[in-house]
Amino acid sequence: METSFWLQKWEKNEIAFHQKEANPLLVKYFADLSLAKGSRVFVPFCGKSLDVGWLLSQGHRVAGAELSKLAVEQLFAGLGCEPEIVRAGEFERYSAADIDIFVGDLFNVSGELLGGVDAIYDRAALVALPNGMRNQYSKHLTEITGKAPQLLITYEYDQSVMAGPPFSVCNEEVKRLYRDSYDLRLVASEDVAGGLKGRCAATEHVWMLRTVVGSQ
Ligand SMILES: C[S@@+](CC[C@H](N)C(=O)[O-])C[C@H]1O[C@@H](n2cnc3c(N)ncnc32)[C@H](O)[C@@H]1O
Repeated sequence: METSFWLQKWEKNEIAFHQKEANPLLVKYFADLSLAKGSRVFVPFCGKSLDVGWLLSQGHRVAGAELSKLAVEQLFAGLGCEPEIVRAGEFERYSAADIDIFVGDLFNVSGELLGGVDAIYDRAALVALPNGMRNQYSKHLTEITGKAPQLLITYEYDQSVMAGPPFSVCNEEVKRLYRDSYDLRLVASEDVAGGLKGRCAATEHVWMLRTVVGSQ
C-alpha cells in the first residue's frame, strides 16, 4: 500500500476505520499484558485513535507512529493538549506529557529513535497492510521494539468477497509471522456485528503475544 493512499484518506476525511470510542477489545483484554503503571506502550499506525487516550487514562505512557500529520494534529486536539513539535531525523516528533508520536513512515523508525517500549498494541496496523508487506512489518516491529509483548487484533474474512484494507489475516499467518519471536495465544474470536463495512461476514481475533524467554 502506497503511503499516498493513506495520506489521501486523511485529506478526504475517509476514515471509516476511526472508532468513536476506545476499542472494546482493548478495554477488555489489555490488562492481560500485566503491565505496571507507567509502562510505555507502542501504538503503530495510531491514526487519531481514542485508544491512545484510553491507554494514557490507565496510567501508561504511549509512543506512536503515524504517516499523516493531519491525523496526529487531530489526535492531540482530541486529547486536549498542545504538543511540542521537534524534528527527529526525517520525522517530526509530537510530544506532550507521557506521549510521543512520530510523524512519518513506520518502516523508517529505528529502535534508537523509538526508545524503549514495554508493549505493543496493534489495532488496524498489521491488517492495514497487503499480503506482500506483512512479513516486512512484523520483522521491523519486533526489531525496533526488542520483541516487546503485544496485544494484536486481526480480522479474518473471505478476501474474495471484499478487497482490503482492512485485509484478512488468517490465524495461520499470524503464527507464521510471529512464532519465532513470541509465544502466541488466541485470546478471543468474535463475529464483527453487522459484518465488515456492513457487507462482509468477518471475525475479529484477539492475540496475546508474549516474548519467548531467551529469544532476545
Ligand atoms: C486503518 S488505519 C488505523 C488507525 C488506528 N490504528 C485506528 O485504530 O484508528 C491505518 C493507519 O496507519 C497509517 N499508516 C499506514 N501506513 C503507515 C506507515 N507506513 N507508517 C506510519 N503510519 C502508517 C495510516 O495513515 C492510517 O492512519
